[in-house]
Amino acid sequence: MDRFVFCPRSAQITGALQGEISATLDLPDDVMTRINDCFNLLDFEKAARERLPSPLFHYISGGADDETTKSANTSSFDRYHLTPAFLRDIRKVDMRRTVFGVDLAWPVMLSPTGLTGVFHPDGERAVAQAAASSGVAYSLSTMATTSIEDVAAAARGPKIYQLYLLKDDAANIEMIDRCKAANFDVLCLTVDTVVAGNRERDHRTGLTVPPRLNRRNIVGFARRPAWCLRYLAGGGVSLPNIPAGDGNQNLGTLAAYFAANMEQNITWSRVERLMRHWGKPFIVKGLQSVADARNAAASGVTGIVVSNHGGRQLDGGAATVDLVANMVDAVGDRLEVVLDSGVRRGSHVVKALAMGARACMIGRPYLYGLSAFGKPGVERVLGLLRQETERTLGLIGCASVDEVSRRHITPADRLPDFLQYAAAEPNPTTKFTRSMK
Ligand code: GLV
Repeated sequence: MDRFVFCPRSAQITGALQGEISATLDLPDDVMTRINDCFNLLDFEKAARERLPSPLFHYISGGADDETTKSANTSSFDRYHLTPAFLRDIRKVDMRRTVFGVDLAWPVMLSPTGLTGVFHPDGERAVAQAAASSGVAYSLSTMATTSIEDVAAAARGPKIYQLYLLKDDAANIEMIDRCKAANFDVLCLTVDTVVAGNRERDHRTGLTVPPRLNRRNIVGFARRPAWCLRYLAGGGVSLPNIPAGDGNQNLGTLAAYFAANMEQNITWSRVERLMRHWGKPFIVKGLQSVADARNAAASGVTGIVVSNHGGRQLDGGAATVDLVANMVDAVGDRLEVVLDSGVRRGSHVVKALAMGARACMIGRPYLYGLSAFGKPGVERVLGLLRQETERTLGLIGCASVDEVSRRHITPADRLPDFLQYAAAEPNPTTKFTRSMK
């Protein structure tokens, strides 16, 4: 099944030495941030930065062009305030929700991420297992370093396969058939990569796939010997889900791979054909407008993911939290809407639910957890986000995710009512003082 091996044969380390190196590198000593020093998702970004070669850190962290959309995705959550309702019975908070036909213990799913095994050898298996133990769904990418079959064997939880539509339709059908055989639950067609985003950090840091030393990246790799030894000890990685012939040993840059292989003419009738072939819940990820949401509803898909690929594709688009409510209002009675991109806090999850999203997806945060600490890092990321979500629900007086509504959210720049109606209303403080006499 291994179609590409991202490691020069001459550099492979095998046998006992491989085991020894892996064991001693589990939690390296040369870093400041340890797993128990991470108290929120942003802390994991710092921990990952300390352990990853800088080209890899910037590959995860970077966005397209000026990264305005990437930054807005998170900061725009501050444009909305949560409104608590007190004196409610919140002794038990029920966060369960069924989304795209899969049961979630709490309303989060893991976004698909490419090249996951490059960051830490625990790779996609560990992420899928951590998702399953936390009761959330895992999405496996077409660009994953673990096969559809191996992820299915490793983790019992709900699984989504993210299809990047390739130019070769036989290859697309082969991937879908493998997912059917492996009993994946949902097929997710990502539509925002028809053109490669301009990720300037990758150009500056000299990132190639597979990682190869060059004058731009040599210092970045040399400063992280623990990662280098571990990568060599693991024997490199492959992209086992891409059918033979649709890639090659040396992808060069991801942008070049996308340009050469991605289908650039995805039509709604193609979506309908794929959906019929799959025959189970089918979702489209990457939509950012009411018009596209309406087209999705007309085509009969199960759901959509409002996403700008974490700001890694189109720069200059809106933050997804600013888009989701209008899209829910347009199609929420016909399909399920999930929000992706920028979620870093439980309060963000709750704000998205208040807008009408059925759940949120996270990508970078779990990759940071994985890169820094392997599977325990992903588990802690999910544990912290779950606690924050539950705490926030309690703090706004909701005993269940189904109680969260637009009543719990207001625009942060809304002026106090007295500024809008000053002329008509008496001063309430004066009124109160008089009535006390
Ligand atoms: C792949 O999906 C990427 O965003 O790099």
